[in-house]
Amino acid sequence: MGKLIAVTGKGGVGKTTISALLVQYMLQKGSSPILVVDADPNSNLNEVFGLQVGETIGSIREDMSAISGTLPAGMAKHEYLQMKVQECMVEAKGFDLVVMGRPEGPGCYCFTNNVLRDVLKILAKQYPRIVIDNEAGMEHMSRRITTTMDHLLIVSDTSLRSMLAAERIVELVKELKLTVGSMYLLLNRVHNGIPAEVKKRADAIGIPLIGAIPEENMVHDFDGNGRPLVELPDDSSTVRALKEIADRLNI
Ligand SMILES: Nc1ncnc2c1ncn2[C@@H]1O[C@H](COP(=O)(O)OP(=O)(O)OP(=O)(O)O)[C@@H](O)[C@H]1O
Ligand SMILES: [Mg+2]
Repeated sequence: MGKLIAVTGKGGVGKTTISALLVQYMLQKGSSPILVVDADPNSNLNEVFGLQVGETIGSIREDMSAISGTLPAGMAKHEYLQMKVQECMVEAKGFDLVVMGRPEGPGCYCFTNNVLRDVLKILAKQYPRIVIDNEAGMEHMSRRITTTMDHLLIVSDTSLRSMLAAERIVELVKELKLTVGSMYLLLNRVHNGIPAEVKKRADAIGIPLIGAIPEENMVHDFDGNGRPLVELPDDSSTVRALKEIADRLNI
C-alpha cells in the first residue's frame, strides 16, 4: 500500500496549488510513479500541470445493466470499472492523473464516488505515493472516498473563516472515525504575518502547524497567464516553503 497524502480545506485556499507542488517535490525526490487524484468535481488540477484531460470517472456509464451485454466474456463489473478508469488516466512523466469530474446527465455522485473508492483501493497497491486534491469543504469526507490516509493536510489562509473550516474538518475526521496517520494544519497565502486571532486558533486546533507559505505575486502571475504552476522556479518563495514543509512530512 502506497503512502497516501490528501489535501483539504476551504474553497480557494490553495489545495490544488499545494497538491501539484507536492507531486513535483516527490518526483524530484525520485518517488515515482505517483497516482494523482483530482477528486474535485470542478477539476482543474490538470491545468496546474499543463495537462489535457479527456474522459473522467464521472463519464463512466452509470447504468451498468445497459453495458453488461457488451462486457468482454468473463469480465466482472469491478474489472470493467478498473479498465475504464485506466482508460481515463492521463499518463504524465512520473505520475498518472485520475480525474473524478462530474457524473454525466442528472445522476448523483454516488456511482462516481463508489467507482473512485473501489478503484482507489486497487490502484493504491500499485503506486508508492498517492496524492488526492479534494474539493472544497467537507462533502468528500462524508462521502468517504478515502477512509485511510497517511497524511491529511488541512490548508487554510489567514482568514478566520478558513480557520473555522479547518476546525470543522478536524472534528469531522474524528466523528467519521477516519484513519489518518497524521493530520496537519498548513497556512497558505500568508502576508503581513499571521493575524493574532488566527494564530490563537491555530494553536488551539489540536493538530500541529506544519508550516506557512507566503503570498507570492509570481503565483498570481503564473495563474493569470495560464502558465502551469509546476513551472515555478526553484527560487519561488512558494516552492521553497513547500519544500521545507514536505521535508518535514518526510514523504
Ligand atoms: N502562495 C500563494 N501566493 C499567491 N497566490 C496563491 C498562493 N497559493 C494559491 N494562490 C492562488 O489562490 C487561488 C486559489 O488557489 P487553488 O486553486 O490552488 O485553491 P483551491 O483551494 O484548490 O481552490 P478550490 O477550492 O476552488 O479548488 C489561485 O488563483 C492561486 O493562484
Ligand atoms: Mg482546487
